[in-house]
Amino acid sequence: MSAPIALATAAVARDVDEDLPPLLRAAHDAGIEAVAVDWDDASTDWSTFERVVIRSTWDYTQRLEEFMAWTDHVASVSRLVNPASVVAWNCDKRYLAALGAAGLPVVPSWFVGPGDSASIPAGVPEGEIVVKPTVSAGSRDTARYRWAQREQAEAHVRRLVGGGRTAMVQPYEPTVDRDGETALLYFGGALSHAIRKGPLLRPDAAPTRALFAEEHITAVEPVPEQLAVGEQVLDALVALDPFAGSTPDYVRVDLVERADGGFAILELELIEPSIFTATAHGAAERFVDAVLR
Ligand SMILES: Nc1ncnc2c1ncn2[C@@H]1O[C@H](COP(=O)(O)OP(=O)(O)OP(=O)(O)O)[C@@H](O)[C@H]1O
Ligand SMILES: [Mg+2]
Repeated sequence: MSAPIALATAAVARDVDEDLPPLLRAAHDAGIEAVAVDWDDASTDWSTFERVVIRSTWDYTQRLEEFMAWTDHVASVSRLVNPASVVAWNCDKRYLAALGAAGLPVVPSWFVGPGDSASIPAGVPEGEIVVKPTVSAGSRDTARYRWAQREQAEAHVRRLVGGGRTAMVQPYEPTVDRDGETALLYFGGALSHAIRKGPLLRPDAAPTRALFAEEHITAVEPVPEQLAVGEQVLDALVALDPFAGSTPDYVRVDLVERADGGFAILELELIEPSIFTATAHGAAERFVDAVLR
């Protein structure tokens, strides 16, 4: 057995993180001593772990400051995967603007923070729109509105901003209703597998407050155009300061098709992504090889 590795989870996620048991099993089979630990367990001495891999700290968005302090602490006494600087960059979807500026295709996004006046920024195209917080996971506080419902959308933005958060507005990409989104999973910089996630936002539905929305997941074979965007993402990340010249050990690239037929980034998951090990033979083993070893 090698030095122990912690897979950081949360009390609310432990029993619902479907990747955790297969990863622990695959680690054990590879002779790696890995244990699941709640990130906020005050009795844990993180320095006893050779590596701390963030797995399912799914309540972090509601406790961001505490979580960021935890990542800094762990990084100072052990090796945090992905690194704290990557977590800090990825926890706020304003990174989409940075990716767009770097020439990557992103879902067009407008941001409204405390101090900004308009709740639906000028330039947002007329049509269906999505309102969500920039710090979010599991589709929480996210909703879709028709243009005729934009007063409701504005109220949603004001609610988020009034609560001290930054809101974002995007066009609702209608292809999602037909095709869902595609997530590309890269472990150690190599593609492991891809999945399709069905649409999550129903018209006229209120924003969910649950830990995560019910998801419909199936395995898919990515098309070359999607893989090209995935490669572009990996290349672009290493050039950004928080990545210090290396590709993160795990990367999930979520793509949607735009009306023009191109694929655009809906989000990058570099913190605590579901990796859908059950959909792809050998995925847990590939993660263990690339990330835990
Ligand atoms: N612009 C959009 N067009 C179409 N669908 C969208 C758009 N934005 C969000 N959605 C839908 O809402 C879901 C949640 O949005 P998003 O992935 O951006 O937020 P999240 O809270 O980080 O979710 P998670 O962490 O679960 O992936 C998406 O999976 C998608 O179904
Ligand atoms: Mg998502």
